[in-house]
Amino acid sequence: MKIRTAIVGVGNCFAGLYQGIEYYKKMDTERIGLMHENIGPYSWKDIEFVLAYDVSKNKVGKPLHEAVYAKPNYVKIVDSMPENGVIVQEAPVLDGVGKWVKDMFEPMENTAPIEVLREKIINEIKENNIDVLINYLPVGSQKAVEFWADVALESGTAFVNCMPIFIASNPEWENKFREKNIPIIGDDIKSQVGATIIHRVLAKLFEDRGAILDRSYQLNFGGNTDFLNMLERERLKSKKISKTESVKSQLKKHPIKDENIHIGPSDYVPFMKNNKVAYIRLEGRMWADVPFNIELRLDVDDKPNSAGVAVDAIRLAKLAKDRNIGGALLGPSAYLMKHPPVQYPDPEAKQMTEEFIKGEHQTHQNQTEETSETV
Ligand SMILES: NC(=O)c1ccc[n+]([C@@H]2O[C@H](COP(=O)([O-])OP(=O)(O)OC[C@H]3O[C@@H](n4cnc5c(N)ncnc54)[C@H](O)[C@@H]3O)[C@@H](O)[C@H]2O)c1
Repeated sequence: MKIRTAIVGVGNCFAGLYQGIEYYKKMDTERIGLMHENIGPYSWKDIEFVLAYDVSKNKVGKPLHEAVYAKPNYVKIVDSMPENGVIVQEAPVLDGVGKWVKDMFEPMENTAPIEVLREKIINEIKENNIDVLINYLPVGSQKAVEFWADVALESGTAFVNCMPIFIASNPEWENKFREKNIPIIGDDIKSQVGATIIHRVLAKLFEDRGAILDRSYQLNFGGNTDFLNMLERERLKSKKISKTESVKSQLKKHPIKDENIHIGPSDYVPFMKNNKVAYIRLEGRMWADVPFNIELRLDVDDKPNSAGVAVDAIRLAKLAKDRNIGGALLGPSAYLMKHPPVQYPDPEAKQMTEEFIKGEHQTHQNQTEETSETV
């Protein structure tokens, strides 16, 4: 059985996911880099991209297998993608395109009013029997993301929210998904081995070993449109909240003070392209108040890093849909996302996800009664 998927935002992250699936299809040796070969009945190769939406003039109207290489996408895991008959469709621009990013590509002028586009898109999604809608819009696209969350609700499509506009972790929105019994996983995808997961695990290590984390920073920079867009500080608020809370949530016994933690994207260095560097520093005290610190530098291609997690999120959302489970999937959201409705330590979130896959469903209520923290 296939998972009929629609994508919003044919950017670098999507390119990493789409090309990565093709990469695995082409190889016959051991597959490195998958968290799950199968999730329930679904293999990674069952994910099919049936509809795609964007606003860039050099992507809309183009076949998806070509648009995925259009500038300013840099991903080239495979040199070419097979034709699949999908043409990138027009999305409403709304607040999707930031002021600096406009220099990198030309956004289209919408050809119809938003209500007309909304109706057309909902019809397309219904007619194409889309199972899962995955959102990879730029940081700061509040209106655009709300548009797509509403489309998921109206069309009965499971929603995976990979970026930091809060939908799954916003009780009002989450409630809408629960009322309509539509599954949602969100918000803001954790990378496979990225700055957030490393920082969280180290913060938790301090706590588990009886040490205290007094001060910490995480400075990130890279050279793609994601980093360029984040130079616009006004678009960045929820991204900073998402990344900071993700680490803070791991410190229960000795919470770190707001003034002692600084996490965020810090700069844009064009020649780095999709490469991202993160500097992480943790300063603390151990036995007898003796101070110590850790300095860490992560150097990673940020896009496959998100794809290795998205490939599971899509399958988990589909599994929930098959089982008629709606609302935020708490275990999978905590395992895969930086800003889930409820934060759990990563090993616990992983276990909850494995239980979910086996069919042991955790309801929102019985999960939030546990010890963990509601965001
Ligand atoms: N590891 C990671 O890279 C990672 C981790 C967590 C979250 N994210 C988030 O994922 C999102 C996508 O990242 P990316 O690197 O692919 O960005 P990107 O800039 O490469 O791609 C964004 C795409 O969205 C399109 N777009 C802009 N406005 C639109 C609109 N209104 N409707 C439809 N399409 C629109 C752009 O044309 C572009 O193709 C970002 O919000 C990023 O912060 C990425």
